[in-house]
Amino acid sequence: MHAAAPSRIWGKICDQRFSVAFEYPVIFTRGSFDPANPLLSETIGGAEPEKRHRLAVFVDEGVLAADPELDGRIAAYCDAHAAHLELVGDLVRVPGGEAVKNDPDALARLLGELIARRIDRHSYAVAIGGGAVLDAVGYAAAIFHRGVRHVRFPTTVLAQDDSGVGVKNAVNLGGVKNLVGTFAPPRAVINDGEFIDLLPEREKRAGMSEAVKVALIRDAGFYAWLEANADALAAFEPAALDVLIERSARLHMHQIAQGGDPFETGSARPLDFGHWSAHRLESLTDHGIGHGEAVAIGIALDTRYSVLAGLLPEGADERVALLLERLGFRLWHEALARREGSRLAVIEGLAQFQEHLGGELTVTLLEDFGRGIEVHAIDHGLVEEAVGWLGARGNR
Ligand SMILES: NC(=O)c1ccc[n+]([C@@H]2O[C@H](COP(=O)([O-])OP(=O)(O)OC[C@H]3O[C@@H](n4cnc5c(N)ncnc54)[C@H](O)[C@@H]3O)[C@@H](O)[C@H]2O)c1
Ligand SMILES: [Zn+2]
Repeated sequence: MHAAAPSRIWGKICDQRFSVAFEYPVIFTRGSFDPANPLLSETIGGAEPEKRHRLAVFVDEGVLAADPELDGRIAAYCDAHAAHLELVGDLVRVPGGEAVKNDPDALARLLGELIARRIDRHSYAVAIGGGAVLDAVGYAAAIFHRGVRHVRFPTTVLAQDDSGVGVKNAVNLGGVKNLVGTFAPPRAVINDGEFIDLLPEREKRAGMSEAVKVALIRDAGFYAWLEANADALAAFEPAALDVLIERSARLHMHQIAQGGDPFETGSARPLDFGHWSAHRLESLTDHGIGHGEAVAIGIALDTRYSVLAGLLPEGADERVALLLERLGFRLWHEALARREGSRLAVIEGLAQFQEHLGGELTVTLLEDFGRGIEVHAIDHGLVEEAVGWLGARGNR
């Protein structure tokens, strides 16, 4: 006779639990490759001062076009700090912008450069560039030898005030944005203001929307500062931009370190206010508008939605839209009016947003200046109304 089926799991469970502590500095400086600036040398050499560290350096071609002498300055810097740093091979020039994340061969090329330089787990892959180059090189560094040491120099406002100070990397696959990537904290992030000086105005402006976003959901004082300094920011005054970048970066870093979910295992992405429609707009426009520009529209849309949903008082939407417009953003794009059947095409962004994270739909809205609130349902009719409101503003 067989015994009755057991009600417990057969076998022995050995619980295994460990945690890994991550720590990395985000440093604000200027002139990182001036030999008199010891920062990079100390950042890399500091923990093991007796060692000479091998570096593979990847640079965004857009940065090199704006600063053709960077190449020589990096080599000279490594020579001047030869006790700690050894530049291996030439700089690797990486095409800037989304192309590098879309090109299926780009990853193999990046890995090939690491192989050619015999980069090992004690060597460093240093990436200098906009968010796209950082994402692609960061991904290559994270999977090469299962992860080599990685230092980032974000060179756009968006990368310095948001994407570059975080723990994620990714490339696009089969037309799907950020489909393949890892969570891999860098060894250090160096935000150098001189890279911002080189940027075209459109790129300087684009990254400001992430600061507006994080201020709106986290820090009313910072939001008030943005309003008070909108003219200086719109004129791209470096001192104002420095403050915007640092305060925004700090708020983003705080969320990663203190938010309780640095590797996004839950269903929420609390800092992605305004992003469900922004991601959709980026793809609907074939990246004709950049991420930051799309986020500005997404912020205005979700602020209006928050008013329509009764979360925010009437007038708050106008105030936010006005700030974004004063910063120079256009809060309308024809793609917002596009329909798929009877429905606005942008609304599909909600399903895509949920699919990327998994679990329940979680969208951050506003309940006050400086205070976001998570909701789990979005009324499509109210989205239509909010889009109509933006259209009326954009057309007037
Ligand atoms: N990993 C993350 O957590 C995260 C978060 C948000 C966004 N992102 C990604 O970031 C990317 C967008 O990054 P971005 O806004 O920095 O733009 P980008 O990387 O696309 O760069 C925009 C353009 O500016 C050029 N450029 C970069 N720095 C320059 C400089 N100092 N001077 C002159 N030209 C310069 C580039 O060559 C490129 O042509 C997207 O791919 C997005 O998915 C990643
Ligand atoms: Zn963003």
